[in-house]
Amino acid sequence: MSASDLSVSANQVSRVFGSFVAVADATFTVPRGGVTALVGPNGSGKTTLMLVLAGLLTPSSGTVEVCGFNPVTDNFQVRSRVGWMPDQFGMWDSLTALEALTMTGATYRMSADASLARARELLELVHLVEFGDKPAHVLSRGQKQRLGLARALMHSPQMLILDEPANGLDPRSRIELRGIVRQLAEGGTTILISSHVLAELDEMVDDAIFLSAGRTVARETVTDARSARSSWHVRAIDRTPLVSWLEEIHVPFALGQDGSVIVNISGEENAARFLRDALARDIAIVEFAPRGGALEQTYLQLNEERR
Ligand SMILES: Nc1ncnc2c1ncn2[C@@H]1O[C@H](COP(=O)(O)OP(=O)(O)OP(=O)(O)O)[C@@H](O)[C@H]1O
Ligand SMILES: [Mg+2]
Repeated sequence: MSASDLSVSANQVSRVFGSFVAVADATFTVPRGGVTALVGPNGSGKTTLMLVLAGLLTPSSGTVEVCGFNPVTDNFQVRSRVGWMPDQFGMWDSLTALEALTMTGATYRMSADASLARARELLELVHLVEFGDKPAHVLSRGQKQRLGLARALMHSPQMLILDEPANGLDPRSRIELRGIVRQLAEGGTTILISSHVLAELDEMVDDAIFLSAGRTVARETVTDARSARSSWHVRAIDRTPLVSWLEEIHVPFALGQDGSVIVNISGEENAARFLRDALARDIAIVEFAPRGGALEQTYLQLNEERR
């Protein structure tokens, strides 16, 4: 992949706070125009790393290039190309939603007219039109979150960095957020997103970078993660013939609490073959599904290895 196909190229990035190492060694790239997830346990350094990429925090060592610029030496170039949505919307409470957006427009040197037009358009996108003239402090948590998304989009950035954007959103707003993210990506915007709700990421992202204790430890496309799944949930009308067949063919399994059977089969092709054979044996299977999401399985395996 050539440098121009990449929105982010990070090499051995670290960030320390006093003697505490929040990001130890992050080495990864983010392709232009895709949706990439940053996944890791609490405290693994996701927010810190995102702040570095957004040009809001300087790295302690390593090199970073974002949208073709170094966020340390060309800070404004990076910030004018990147939209940042923090995990909590922070803003002077006395500002109205519309003012919060136009003020952001001003910091990006947008003209007052362009800023107002863009702000109105975005309030519509995030369904906050009726809150335009209300002070931001009256917004609910989820509404603030949506205003945060609008703020990140004010200057039509090439890249959007979203830190747990679905936090506090109701189900409909979550679905809409997924739609907005996919739509922006299809229009060429690069998106980097963090979330703890991995099932949600499965449906939204193309690939994921896994962070553990400040280090990038794995990278996987969702397609690969899907085809590598190894734990399947199987339910038959009668569990007995299913269990005796599994014993006969030596496939490892565990009994689920709901009458189901958890079967370990690695890969989708083997799973498809297993299902075909089970049906050929007249085992009345009524449910067959991967157990947990694609990224979730990778995440749990990584945590397991690190115990
Ligand atoms: N300004 C700071 N000063 C000192 N320590 C910090 C600072 N910011 C972050 N840290 C520490 O760095 C580590 C990584 O924090 P960070 O917020 O990046 O984690 P995270 O992966 O975003 O976690 P979460 O999933 O909980 O949001 C944590 O142990 C945190 O306490
Ligand atoms: Mg965080």
